[in-house]
Amino acid sequence: AANRFLVEGSSNLWRADCRAKGGSPGFKVAILGASGGIGQPLAMLMKMNPLVSVLHLYDVVNTPGVTADISHMDTSAVVRGFVGQNQLEDALTGMDLVIIPAGVPRKPGMTRDDLFNINAGIVKTLCEGIAKCCPKAIVNLISNPVNSTVPIAAEVFKKAGTYDPKRLLGVTMLDVVRANTFVAEVLGLDPREVDVPVVGGHAGVTILPLLSQVKPACSFTQEETEYLTSRIQNGGTEVVEAKAGAGSATLSMAYAAVKFADACLRGLRGDAGVVECAFVSSQVTELPFFASRVRLGRNGVEEIYPLGPLNEYERVGLEKAKKELAGSIEKGVSFVRK
Ligand code: NAI
Repeated sequence: AANRFLVEGSSNLWRADCRAKGGSPGFKVAILGASGGIGQPLAMLMKMNPLVSVLHLYDVVNTPGVTADISHMDTSAVVRGFVGQNQLEDALTGMDLVIIPAGVPRKPGMTRDDLFNINAGIVKTLCEGIAKCCPKAIVNLISNPVNSTVPIAAEVFKKAGTYDPKRLLGVTMLDVVRANTFVAEVLGLDPREVDVPVVGGHAGVTILPLLSQVKPACSFTQEETEYLTSRIQNGGTEVVEAKAGAGSATLSMAYAAVKFADACLRGLRGDAGVVECAFVSSQVTELPFFASRVRLGRNGVEEIYPLGPLNEYERVGLEKAKKELAGSIEKGVSFVRK
């Protein structure tokens, strides 16, 4: 019995090594900010994803512990930890997908823009690493303010000569997840059956749920529309206030991030018809970046869908969203250019 254990043990190690070297199908994914409130559950859920063969966990603190812990899960992905700036390049080399939840979250009374001063620098540094070590990777950017950090990432990649707008996606999935949940509650449906497009950006009035396009087809009273729009736009603040100083959404965000990353990986694999909302380089409006439904494929964003017919309430909301978004985008761009 002891022998058998040894043989099986070593063959498992050999298999793990093969997987790590890309011997079996699967994608290599890095999480930057992996020790944080989002990072840890996100790492756990990605370790459970059968499309992941290698999972790199990077942070400036605590990744040895998180990595040891997650690596004991009996799923196939090989997990490796990296801690501190001088291990960033090793963490990034060879990655197909990089997910970034690094940076400080909100406390009560703060807007996402209040995080700009700290998070802008963090995102810039991490994206410089990506440009150097895995310029072809798909990037899922979670760090707030997303409306500014995505333009920052784009400018960093442009400077490095590696910018591919199809591969840079700001994660707005949590807004869709919340919208599906709150709309399902009002309609008395299972949230899994509900699909609400949420466009614009990821902060306050820039979060624009298109309730006139909900699937399955339905209609809302003016009161329901106003209640739902406001609750979806302020869902993040609802969590920040409930956590009372202990941070912002982490568990629902990790769930949303994995739902989105999985869609990106299915796209990379070549699956047809993978469509999600994301904040991307866009010509859907006059703004250089905008969140809307996109089709994901082997190169990242393969197609960006137009907004479709909006009702009067949504047209007014769109104008408000664009006004605020323009400023947030400009703030991100000038942070890198100046
Ligand atoms: P957290 O503070 O719990 O974790 C952040 C992690 O980033 C920490 O482990 C920290 O050590 C790490 N970190 C800091 N500087 C770093 C660097 N230079 N390189 C690598 N890692 C670094 O924060 P939490 O709750 O996980 O939130 C992370 C970010 O996600 C925040 O900016 C928050 O606003 C944003 N967020 C975005 C959402 C979205 O829908 N896009 C939803 C919820 C949060």
